[in-house]
Amino acid sequence: MPNAPTPIYVTQPHLPPLDDFVPMLREIWDSKVLTNGGPFHQRLEAALAEHLGVGHIALFTNATVALVTALQALRITGEVITTPYSFVATAHSLLWNGIKPVFVDIDPVTLNLDPARVEAAITPQTTAILPVHCYGRPCDTAALQRIADTYGLKLIYDAAHAFGVRDGGGSVLRHGDLSVLSFHATKVFNTFEGGAIVCPDAKAKTRIDHLKNFGFVDEVTVVAPGINGKMNEFQAALGLMQLRDIDLQLDRRALIDAHYRDALAGVPGIRCVERDPRARNNHAYFAILVGPEFPLTRDALYERLKSQGIHGRRYFHPLITQFPMYRGLPSAAPANLPVATRIAQQVICLPIYPALTLDDVDRIAGIVRDAAVPRSHACPSTPTPSYANSGWSTAEWASSSPGALPCTASPASAWATTAASTTSA
Ligand SMILES: Cc1ncc(COP(=O)(O)O)c(C=O)c1O
Repeated sequence: MPNAPTPIYVTQPHLPPLDDFVPMLREIWDSKVLTNGGPFHQRLEAALAEHLGVGHIALFTNATVALVTALQALRITGEVITTPYSFVATAHSLLWNGIKPVFVDIDPVTLNLDPARVEAAITPQTTAILPVHCYGRPCDTAALQRIADTYGLKLIYDAAHAFGVRDGGGSVLRHGDLSVLSFHATKVFNTFEGGAIVCPDAKAKTRIDHLKNFGFVDEVTVVAPGINGKMNEFQAALGLMQLRDIDLQLDRRALIDAHYRDALAGVPGIRCVERDPRARNNHAYFAILVGPEFPLTRDALYERLKSQGIHGRRYFHPLITQFPMYRGLPSAAPANLPVATRIAQQVICLPIYPALTLDDVDRIAGIVRDAAVPRSHACPSTPTPSYANSGWSTAEWASSSPGALPCTASPASAWATTAASTTSA
């Protein structure tokens, strides 16, 4: 009997050859410096600042602790405006600081916090805005900064997805008062677990360095109720290795992204979430939206993929606002968040990672294309499709935005030619 194909998950962490890592491990063993801002920690901070083109970086054990610390560093209190369409850690970082999240809807094309709606959510208690560069696509940073300046608010970006993303002026991480990166195993740049705060100046970094080390300034002085958020030497050493070929990895992701777009071009009812045409994207995720024209619901397509060994993820479903600790807030009501509510019902993130082969991309896209065969062409045993939970009528889908169009092929090639000339990684 033929073996079942190996399951393909939404992501697979990139790791350097183990033999290259061993000398670094030996150095750590020999020095016996395992953590507390040791030499690898310091080297990675400097290397990342240079690589990303930003002034100052404070490394953390993960992004969640970094988010909690960023809010502490700026003494944020009261209410903070944020997005419901994110990983739950974004809002949890507010609750850990005793801050009330105020959820504002997202833009239907970028899936980022909609600046046009932010202003209406500001109250006398608002002290900051916490947007997310969702899937690595830059927020409307100019509009958000204008609002922050007008109302005297701080702006902290959850940039967990945005490693290596650049807009016209440079790294997207330079915007706002602070930006927080994640180096979790699922991210484009990983240090097993890890994170960082990008700071505008040395003063901000010094305060954050104190906060991530229990508030210690020196052996006998503690200036704040800090936390233990330090990245250890093993994580930092891995980060230095990962930096060697990160650009190659991003190029590979770009190729896979383009291949998906070609392979899914023209499939009715499938929209590939757009890249920012003006940005250097990092292709951290490949998200599609399953609209009402598609014969299967999103969940049915997700299950169909899974039954064939393709484990996508419905990021971000459920919305943060559906979890028990948030759903009682007035701003969490679905009526306040119509766009995020629809998108959460339609999204599937398909697998994307540097080791994914283009043959695999063709196979995954083929499952989606096969499922798109109209009902009249389907075999009699095909279950009746249902749009019941799609949330959008066909007319809404068609008229919602330019982004509601089906995927378009990248200019270089059409589905037929790429399918014929596919090469593996
Ligand atoms: C948008 C967002 N914010 C925060 C986090 C938390 O990151 P970490 O796992 O490094 O704590 C994640 C991810 O995993 C994320 O996707």
